[in-house]
Amino acid sequence: MRIGVPKETAPGEKRVATVPDVVAKLIKLGFSVAVESGAGDAANFADDTYRAAGAEVLGSAAELWATSDIVFKVRPPSAEEVGLLREGGMLIGFVWPAQNPELMQQLAAKKATVLAIDCLPRQLSRAQKMDALTSMAGVSGYRAVVEAANAFGRFFNGQVTAAGKIPPAKVFIAGAGVAGLAAIGTAANLGAIVRANDTRAEVADQVVSLGGEFVKVDYEEEGSGGGGYAKVMSEGFQAAQRAMYAQQAKECDIIITTALIPGKPAPRLITAEMVASMKPGSVIVDMAAEQGGNCELTVPGEAVVRHGVTIVGYTDLASRLAKQSSTLYSNNLLRLTEDLCKTKDGVVNVNFEDDAIRGLTVLKEGAVTWPAPPPKLPAAPPKPKAVVAAPAAKGHGHGAAEPMSGKTLAIVFALGAVAFLLVGHYAPASFLAHFTVFVLACFVGYMVVWNVTPSLHTPLMSVTNAISSIIAIGALVQVAPPLTASGAADRPNALILGLAVVALVLTAVNMFGGFAVTRRMLAMFRK
Ligand code: NAI
Repeated sequence: MRIGVPKETAPGEKRVATVPDVVAKLIKLGFSVAVESGAGDAANFADDTYRAAGAEVLGSAAELWATSDIVFKVRPPSAEEVGLLREGGMLIGFVWPAQNPELMQQLAAKKATVLAIDCLPRQLSRAQKMDALTSMAGVSGYRAVVEAANAFGRFFNGQVTAAGKIPPAKVFIAGAGVAGLAAIGTAANLGAIVRANDTRAEVADQVVSLGGEFVKVDYEEEGSGGGGYAKVMSEGFQAAQRAMYAQQAKECDIIITTALIPGKPAPRLITAEMVASMKPGSVIVDMAAEQGGNCELTVPGEAVVRHGVTIVGYTDLASRLAKQSSTLYSNNLLRLTEDLCKTKDGVVNVNFEDDAIRGLTVLKEGAVTWPAPPPKLPAAPPKPKAVVAAPAAKGHGHGAAEPMSGKTLAIVFALGAVAFLLVGHYAPASFLAHFTVFVLACFVGYMVVWNVTPSLHTPLMSVTNAISSIIAIGALVQVAPPLTASGAADRPNALILGLAVVALVLTAVNMFGGFAVTRRMLAMFRK
C-alpha cells in the first residue's frame, strides 16, 4: 500500500506528519511512501532528505491524495482536502470527532476509514508508544516556558554578580498534567523557583520529583474524574482555589496555565484582578487558550499586554518547535503502523480485537465507529488496608495499628503500677533496681517509637544503633579503671586491656557511623 504525506494547509502549521527517518522504516514495513514537495520545509526537512530516505516527492497535492491508499496528516483535514481523499481511502491524524461533526459526515460520505490519533485509549500502557497527545503536550509545555522566558525581562536563575544580586524568577504552573509537568521540569532546569497546583492530588509527587513545589488548595475534595483526567470542582473548592491563586499571582513572576477538563470549556483560574495584582513585566502563558483560556484576559492566538503583564495565548506551541514535534509525532504514527501491519507486508489490518486500534478508529469504510467502547483494562490490585486507614496522615503513624486511646493507656498504667508494687513487695532489692530500669526503658522506647511516622523508621533504627554504642562506657572503664580508696587504679591484665581497646574502636565506628547515616537519611526528607 502507498502512504501519502501532504503539506499541512492550516495557516501557520509548520509540522509534518512523517520525517525522513520514519519514511525509511515505513518502507521496511513493506509500504511505498509519497511526500508532497515542500511538506517538510517549515520543519527543516528538505525534499531531498525524503528522496534519500526512499520516498517519492510529488509536486501536487491533488496527485498525492489521489494516489495514496493511506494519508498521514497532523491537523484535521479541511473540506477541500476531504474532497481530494480517494473514495474508500484511509486517513490517520488528529480529527477531534466530538468537535468536528461536519468533518465526520464528509469523511463518512467518502466511505473513508479514519483513525483519529486523539481518540487513542491512553490508559492502555501498550498504547503509550502511539500517544501523540502526550508527545505534543510535552513539546508544548517546554515551548511555553521558552515563550515565557522570551517575554520576561529577567533571568530565570538567581545569580550573584559583581553588578548585584539577582533573585531567581518564581514560576507558578496551574495544572500538572503532561504539559504542566514538562513546563515544571523545563522551568526548574532553567533555575527558577517552581510551584504548581492541580486538582488531582496524586500528581503532587510527580511535581516534587521534577523540582517543583506542590501548592495545595485548602479544601478537601477529590479532583480525579476518571481515566487520569480532571472533573469540574465544587463551588467551595473553586473559591478556595481562587484565593490561593490570587496569592500566587501576587508572589510569582510567571504563570503558565495548562488546566483542561475533557469535553468542557477550560476552567477560569486567573481573573482580571489577579492579572492586575501581578508585578509589572510578569508573564502569563495560557496553554488552554484554544479551549477558552484559563485566564480571563487571554486573546487566543496572540500575545497581548494587560496591566503591564504579557499574556501569551498562542495556540500553536507544538508547531513552534516543528522539527521536534514532527519527529515525535511521526514516531507515534510509525508505532501505530507497526501495529496495523504486523505481517510487515505493506498491508494494513484494522483489527477491532486490538483495543488500541478499536479506540482510534472513528470511521470504518464510511460507518461511524466512534465513540469506541471503553477498553478492557487489567483489574487494579486491591488497595492495602493500611492505605485506606492512612494512619501516617494523622501524624501518629505506626503501620496499620492505631495508638492506644487515653482510657486504655490509663488502665495499662494502673495494672502496671499494681504489678510493680507486688514485684517490689516480694522480690529482692537488687532485682527491683534492674527491673525499674527495664520498665522505664520500655516506657521511653514505646513513647519514642510510637510517635515516629513509618517512613522515618529506618533513620530511627540507625540512630538507635548509634545510641547503643553507650556500651563504650564499659570499654572505657576497663581501659581506665576507677581509682581505689587508696588512690591507686587497678590495672587490668593485657588481654582485657586489648579487648577493651578493640571494643572502643568498634563502638566508635558504630556511634559515628550511625549518626552520620541518620543525618544522611534525614537529609533525604528535608526540602
Ligand atoms: P489535560 O490536558 O486534560 O489536563 C491538564 C491538567 O489540568 C490535568 O492534570 C488536570 O488535572 C488539570 N486540571 C483540570 N482542571 C483543573 C483546575 N481547575 N485546577 C487545576 N488543575 C486542573 O490532561 P493531560 O495532561 O492530557 O493528562 C492528564 C493526566 O492523564 C496526565 O497527568 C496523566 O497522568 C494521565 N495520562 C495517563 C495516561 C495513561 O494512563 N497511560 C496517558 C496520558 C495521560
